[in-house]
Amino acid sequence: MKILIIGSGGREHALVWKLAQSSHAARMWVAPGNAGIAQERLAKNGAPVECVPLAAENLSPLLDFAKREKPDLTVVGPDNPLAAGIVDLFQANGFKIWGPNQKAAQFEASKAFSQDFMERHGIPTAKSGTFSEPVAAKKFAASLGGRCAVKADGLALGKGVLLTASVIEAERAIDEIMISKAFGAAGQRVVIQELLEGMEISLHALCDGKIAKLFPTAQDHKRALENDEGLNTGGMGTYSPAPFLTDAQLAEVGDVILKPWLSGCAAEGIDFRGLIYPGVMLTKSGPKVLEFNARFGDPETQVYLTRLENDLVELLLASCEGRLADVELKWTSNASVCVVMASGGYPGDYAKGKSIEGIAAADALPATKVFHAGTALKDGQVVTNGGRVLGVTAWRPTLIEARAAAYAAVEKIRFEGAQFRRDIAAKALSPDHSEE
Ligand code: AMP
Ligand code: GLY
Repeated sequence: MKILIIGSGGREHALVWKLAQSSHAARMWVAPGNAGIAQERLAKNGAPVECVPLAAENLSPLLDFAKREKPDLTVVGPDNPLAAGIVDLFQANGFKIWGPNQKAAQFEASKAFSQDFMERHGIPTAKSGTFSEPVAAKKFAASLGGRCAVKADGLALGKGVLLTASVIEAERAIDEIMISKAFGAAGQRVVIQELLEGMEISLHALCDGKIAKLFPTAQDHKRALENDEGLNTGGMGTYSPAPFLTDAQLAEVGDVILKPWLSGCAAEGIDFRGLIYPGVMLTKSGPKVLEFNARFGDPETQVYLTRLENDLVELLLASCEGRLADVELKWTSNASVCVVMASGGYPGDYAKGKSIEGIAAADALPATKVFHAGTALKDGQVVTNGGRVLGVTAWRPTLIEARAAAYAAVEKIRFEGAQFRRDIAAKALSPDHSEE
């Protein structure tokens, strides 16, 4: 099969790495890819993965490329092309493409849509309100005592959420999003939620328009700095499994969230074929959904795909074709840990073009993979080219070992200003949750 993958981040590198292991993959293009993706080869025939310089958001050049090269399957990584309707466009032109269509992608593209949907279908979530002007928004925030999550309605690179602890902070956050337009047009409407307390986990489920198959647990680390301090980022590191839920509890969480979600989709004619990723807070009064994403998480993908035993091409085809009922997801019993190395200053301003040393030495360690995110090749040298630069991932029989191995690999890598958290997966190993 000829496969086209859309995107350029660490998630896409992990998708490419896993898809390239499939016996079905005979040719693979990635638009636009990155320096690490360009080094991958297909297991079937040793062919190099080909990066093509087409932006993920620019749909018509991507369609022209598909018309020319005729991929048998296109796989979409990021949210923007999904929200722009790439799936509908490719399908209308006769191409098989994996990911939710535009209507289904609204779960991520509009937080207001998701929030209303959850209320209509009894999915547990935070108390919330949606507002298109600041006065009413501020009144609602005040009714919550200012302890809120103030969220731009639209897509904002995972950064459009401000957590506030007082009425003054909440008012400032509302002004920032609605008046100063800190996240652009995404902030025309805001969703304000009560601030929930508890342990946050990532759920992933693969869907085929009828059923959903739940993945094991994972946990991301959203804040830039250790001890969950600093600004929210796209994600600074992940591990899987997370020991806060037993398999039975995970299945139960799946039941209270995924069951009503699936029946709501059926009732509203939403044909979701792709990956649904609810962010969930495990509160004292049960699990509550903070938001839905309509794609694989980044860097959750890096830990999931290093544990997945199935052929990913087969899984994604089953998801596209409504055949997931026939498929069993298989996971190794390993734990996997991904530590993100970011550019100094991220998620604020940062420099690009810093040369990176030591990737090959880290990659040479057993059961270790350095997934590239914001990297580029300059005169044959890998350089930094984004906020999140690398996702250094290692998998081992236990979480303690996987964590030590991931950090041993991080130690081999150097670039000017490199910033990473030293406490990825530490919570899971605190006395309450220690597995050993
Ligand atoms: P979101 O993009 O909606 O997932 O929000 C980004 C991050 O903000 C989440 O991963 C949480 O860590 C935090 N967050 C969002 N909503 C809430 C909430 N209602 N209460 C507490 N934390 C929240
Ligand atoms: N792990 C955060 C995200 O993918 O949105």
